[in-house]
Amino acid sequence: VLNGDRERAERALERELLTSRLTAPAPTAGLGTGEVYLIGAGPGDPDLLTLRALQLLQRADVILHDRLVSEAVLERARRDAERIFVGKESGGPDNQNEIHELLVRLAREGKRVARLKGGDPFVFGRGGEEIEVLAAHGIPCTVVPGITAALGAAAAAELPLTHRRLASSVTLISGQLSDGALPDCRFLANPGHTVAVYMGVAQLPNIVARLRAAGAAAEHPAAIVERATLPGQRVLRGTLANIEALAQAHEVGPPAILILGDVAAFAPAEATAPPTAAAGVTA
Ligand SMILES: C[S@@+](CC[C@H](N)C(=O)[O-])C[C@H]1O[C@@H](n2cnc3c(N)ncnc32)[C@H](O)[C@@H]1O
Repeated sequence: VLNGDRERAERALERELLTSRLTAPAPTAGLGTGEVYLIGAGPGDPDLLTLRALQLLQRADVILHDRLVSEAVLERARRDAERIFVGKESGGPDNQNEIHELLVRLAREGKRVARLKGGDPFVFGRGGEEIEVLAAHGIPCTVVPGITAALGAAAAAELPLTHRRLASSVTLISGQLSDGALPDCRFLANPGHTVAVYMGVAQLPNIVARLRAAGAAAEHPAAIVERATLPGQRVLRGTLANIEALAQAHEVGPPAILILGDVAAFAPAEATAPPTAAAGVTA
C-alpha cells in the first residue's frame, strides 16, 4: 500500500471511530448481559494502542483504569463513558478484591466494562486473576494484548532486546519479588542474555548486588528507560558499577524499567563496533 493510501485509510478509520465515540449507544445497559474487555493500554503513547483496544474502548460504558494508563489514552474513550480510577497507591493496601467485586457488579448491571491496564494485562498486570474471577461468575471477557513496557522502552530507546550479535534470549522479571529474591542469577548475570526488570528502580542496590554476587562484571551494561513513550522520556545508560549513582543523580522516578545486558549499550551509529558502556543520559 502506498503511504498516501495508508494515511487516507487511517484518517477514514479515525473519523469512523470518532463518530462512534460520540454516538455509540449502550443497548445492553440494565439487561444483566454485560461483559468485560480486559485491555492492554501499552506503555503510554496513545498511538501504541491496538485497533481492537481502540474499538472496545469506544464501545465501553465504564472504564476501570490503573495509574499507569495515560490521560492521552483515556481521552480516546467514549466521551460519556464513566471513568473509575482503581490504581493501587505505591505501598498502599492491596485493592485487588475490590476491583474484582466492581468488575462483577458492573457487568451484572449489564454494562460493557473496559478494564484498562498499562502495558499488557498479562505481564505483571494481574490480568490472570481478573479473568479467573470473571470466569467463575460466568461473565464474558475479551482480552486485548498491549505493548508491554519492556518492548515499548526497547523501541523508544533503540535497544534491540535480542540483537543477533548481542543477545540470544530475554527475560522479563519483577524487581519486587515478595521475598526480595531474584530468579536464577547466574543465568541473568550473563551479558549475552537480556533482562528487563519491571518495578526495579527502588530495588536497584539489591538487584546490582545479587547480579554481581552471581558473577556479573562491573562493566555489565545497564540502562534505565524512564517514562518510555511518554512526554519527558529519559534514557540513562551505564553499567552495574554506576547505574545506582546515575539513577540517584538524575532522580529517576516511576514508571521506569531497567534493561541489563550487552544490548543496553547498543548504539545504532556504532553498529559495527563492539558494545561500549559509556554512562550517559538522553531525553
Ligand atoms: C505493575 S507493572 C505493570 C506492567 C504492565 N502490565 C506492562 O505490561 O508493561 C509496572 C511497571 O511497569 C514498568 N512500566 C510501565 N510503563 C512504563 C513506561 N511507560 N516506562 C517505563 N517503565 C514502565 C515499570 O517498571 C513499572 O514499575
